[in-house]
Amino acid sequence: MHNIKSVGILTSGGDAPGMNAAIRAVTRAAIYSGLKVYGIYRGYRGLIYDEIEEFSTQNVSNIIQRGGTILKTARCKEFQSPEGRQCAYDVLRRRGIDSLAVIGGDGSLSGARIFGNEFQFPIVGLPGTIDNDLYGTDTTIGYDTALNTIMECVDKIRDTATSHERLFFIEVMGRDAGFLALNGAIASGAEAAIIPEISTQVDQLSELIKAGFRKSKNSSIVLVAESPITGGAMGLAQRVKEEYPGYDVRVTILGHLQRGGSPTANDRILASRMGAAAVDALMEDQRNVMVGIKNDEIVYVPFTKAIKNDKPIAQDLMSTLRRLSI
Ligand code: F6P
Repeated sequence: MHNIKSVGILTSGGDAPGMNAAIRAVTRAAIYSGLKVYGIYRGYRGLIYDEIEEFSTQNVSNIIQRGGTILKTARCKEFQSPEGRQCAYDVLRRRGIDSLAVIGGDGSLSGARIFGNEFQFPIVGLPGTIDNDLYGTDTTIGYDTALNTIMECVDKIRDTATSHERLFFIEVMGRDAGFLALNGAIASGAEAAIIPEISTQVDQLSELIKAGFRKSKNSSIVLVAESPITGGAMGLAQRVKEEYPGYDVRVTILGHLQRGGSPTANDRILASRMGAAAVDALMEDQRNVMVGIKNDEIVYVPFTKAIKNDKPIAQDLMSTLRRLSI
């Protein structure tokens, strides 16, 4: 016998394609198991201000294919204070909601960890972020879609880069993580990726130029992870313009379009599996864990591990990119 009778679902932080598929999965798996389900709007803010609605299976019909999140999302300062979290707890008690499924990234799961510990409240997290920067899971919900969006955009930019024989610096998201930049570069056949994980040790731009970058090419594409550590696409382009005035340089910042769009099949399946697994975890009385996927199997990762550890980038990716871009 499990102790849980109801689950509240919220999405928090930056939205990611596949969040709706995850909301649908948690809702339906929970109702299937006889639990009540509550949709909480605008993340932790909606928890504090009681923006909550009981969900039936119909509330999540026709959303698996939609980007964004039907629950809306927010980054909530008030939840960072003990008073804010107390308000949230009072709302949950009053509503009779006895567990939470939180879909979000690093910051959202950090909030979940603190709240779960403070009130001994059952919470399971689902990694929902395009950044793919959560430890303990091979991928996060939204990452595959964002990667495909980047690939499509770079394909288009390549047409004009080739026609004009230009060097393009394309900045992609990732919030200090290089997964989107590095795998986006491999997928789109770019010449290089500049990522924060490596920038701390070497000046990647100088290395590139020293290695004879563009020796046999008239046009080139370099993906840059947004981050003060890499200097961003603008900073790098400026440096090249100053040091190599012969290059015709342009910059594109892909920005928030990377967060939108219909989720790929991979993201829909991942979100569906993780949503169902989140309900299993709550019913098994698991606490303070994030659902992850490792070698195609569902795993449960303690929040502390998922949040605190830096997720490593596979060693072979950089050398593969280098070897294939000659
Ligand atoms: O964490 C997801 C993310 O898209 C990051 O890649 C990016 O740095 C950030 O969110 C942008 O946040 P905002 O939507 O608040 O500008």
